[in-house]
Amino acid sequence: MTPVPVNQQQALVSRLIAACGGSYSPETRRRYYISGPQWAAAYQGQALFHAPTRPAIDFEGVIRKYGEIGIGYWTTHDTDVIPTEALGTDKQSEIVARIGKALANAGMKCSMVTTETFYHAVWAASPAAEDAGVRGYADFRVKNTVDIGHELGANFAVYWPGSLGYYVQGAVEETETLKWYAACINAACEHDIAVAKRKGRATLKHCLEAKPFEPQAEILLPTSDAMLAFIASGLLTHPEMVGLNPEYLHELMWGAAPRAVLARALLAGKLFHFDINDGYRLKHDVDIGVGLVNPLDWLNVLVLLRAHGFNGPFNLDYKPPRTTSNHGVFSVSFPAAVDRFITLWEMAGEVREDPVIHEATDALKAGAGVAPGADAKAIHEANKELLTLHELIGHRLVQILLGVHRGRTFSI
Ligand code: GLC
Ligand code: MN
Ligand code: MN
Repeated sequence: MTPVPVNQQQALVSRLIAACGGSYSPETRRRYYISGPQWAAAYQGQALFHAPTRPAIDFEGVIRKYGEIGIGYWTTHDTDVIPTEALGTDKQSEIVARIGKALANAGMKCSMVTTETFYHAVWAASPAAEDAGVRGYADFRVKNTVDIGHELGANFAVYWPGSLGYYVQGAVEETETLKWYAACINAACEHDIAVAKRKGRATLKHCLEAKPFEPQAEILLPTSDAMLAFIASGLLTHPEMVGLNPEYLHELMWGAAPRAVLARALLAGKLFHFDINDGYRLKHDVDIGVGLVNPLDWLNVLVLLRAHGFNGPFNLDYKPPRTTSNHGVFSVSFPAAVDRFITLWEMAGEVREDPVIHEATDALKAGAGVAPGADAKAIHEANKELLTLHELIGHRLVQILLGVHRGRTFSI
């Protein structure tokens, strides 16, 4: 084996990703409502226990690269781009103006803004802490994010209440904490109504994002379903403005079926926004690129979403692995993730039109036509051959995923 000196490695990576083929043009990629988070591309590989492996990169660099790839939308936390101490000051306006310019130069738009209520020491006891000072500051932060969102033309605001919980039992009273958290969301919605009116814009869609554990040991709103109940609890002054931003992996983390979670959100009319990534069940938030772990499940997720007319936003909330360089982040991680998503989306369209799946599904729904009042045994007997179609549909889905429905591609 010939060693590859460091000055030839980028060229090798670029040549091999091109050799993979199957990539879409930036114009095609821009036709999908896909967003790239500032924090995802700027992530330096420094997860818990890890030192960074990549140099820092600023928003101008991220936005420029996303634009070149053909990612149409950009998302950010307030403090991804504005230092905490500059929030709400003239410096903020200056930075926001620079962001606006960078987005325009890259042909991108800002679709979503989110408030960081988990990293800074002020959130040690969560944004819904006992102290009214912390809660007043949390209100300022979410309202300020609404302002930034309107300034940048965003349509969505996301809230990840990951620090809403505890390490030691009994120190917080859950109902009180939840009421305080609701008051914070209410402050954001009420401020939004006023700002939107002043600016002649629509109000933002406010989206709650659940994660079952991390960073707290116990989380008060651990799942999307808990959040649906919270939205309907009567604590929110504008529940119609509040919905969900489920994250694919966050649902796997508690062992759920993401597709069933999405179905429940769809039925409640609360699927507003979707964080797309991948990972493993009952493990930590590893935020792997979409489709790298569960491509079949992803295909099925997109079949469901297409059936219900959900076209995005799809937010690429994933962390390129520590082993990837900054060159790799923009030459492999993001373009490849977007392309896998588009491929799976188009395949999902094919699934919806597949004649085998159609006929099998229709036959299952038509059933055996047993007479009303038939007993259990007779109903089962009448249907038992039809039910084999469940497994046949599963086989057909894998064929479509592997491209085998077009004919066998392996010779033996
Ligand atoms: C954090 C979470 C991520 C979430 C984002 C939005 O980065 O890890 O999952 O989407 O915040 O607030
Ligand atoms: Mn997320
Ligand atoms: Mn995650």
